[in-house]
Amino acid sequence: MNISRSLNRGHAERPIGIFDSGVGGLTVFKALRARLPGEHLLYLGDTARLPYGTKSAESVTRYALQAASHLAERGVKMLVIACNTASAIAMPALVREFAPLPVIGVVEAGAEAAVRTSKSGHIAVLATESTVRGGAYARAIAARRPDARVFSQACSLFVALAEEGWTRGPLVEAVAREYLHPLLEEKKRDGLDCLVLGCTHFPLLQETIAHVAGSGVILVDSGETVALVVEELLVEQKLIRSRDAKGDAHFLATDGAERFARVGSLFLGERLAAQDVELADL
Ligand code: DGL
Repeated sequence: MNISRSLNRGHAERPIGIFDSGVGGLTVFKALRARLPGEHLLYLGDTARLPYGTKSAESVTRYALQAASHLAERGVKMLVIACNTASAIAMPALVREFAPLPVIGVVEAGAEAAVRTSKSGHIAVLATESTVRGGAYARAIAARRPDARVFSQACSLFVALAEEGWTRGPLVEAVAREYLHPLLEEKKRDGLDCLVLGCTHFPLLQETIAHVAGSGVILVDSGETVALVVEELLVEQKLIRSRDAKGDAHFLATDGAERFARVGSLFLGERLAAQDVELADL
């Protein structure tokens, strides 16, 4: 692979490549566009192989490398791994494969935000099964705050609920109560005060999760933190585009342009049309 090495980097006009397993990463896309309106954004959702959250580490790494390679071939100046599962599992392989192209993942950004937010150091991470199994959030938090206690909870059903647009109401609340039950026990016992939304889909259920978690627990969404990290890096590497310019957005999906547009609109909070989505073959 290593296509990135032949690219002419140092080129601010190139787009930022954003990769996710599907439409969920549009929450990160949205945060990037709000913070960096001058940047061109190229988003790739691997909808043909979604979900990543239940797949083996080997498959997730292989898929992530293929997707990142596609973005690198299209000449991106930076890779943002919006998918928490891919970030949690494939970051070392991505960084190795694409260096010196900057690769930024949401896990480190989420861990940083959690450590800054939590007073007690008792932090819960809600994520997919594969993210929890890999333990990357716990490691990233411990690296920043060794005395932190991290409780991880896989919440696979939240992904399907968000994709259906079911983000509130009794059914969603019942599912959230079930998942959060052990964490609420920790809250009573040990003063858990921060909850990381460690999956692209969970910000859509933020209101319900916050309601079930109750007062005294702050929710952390890595999207905004990642946007800040991207901005800092663009400035540092002199890759930032003028803020007065207007950045373009381009969407790629590996399957189902119509579904990508329909479900993606929920995540983006604005209408996307199927014609706006180009099908890509990895
Ligand atoms: N994008 C995934 C994540 O953030 C959620 C969806 C999936 O399982 O692929 O972990």
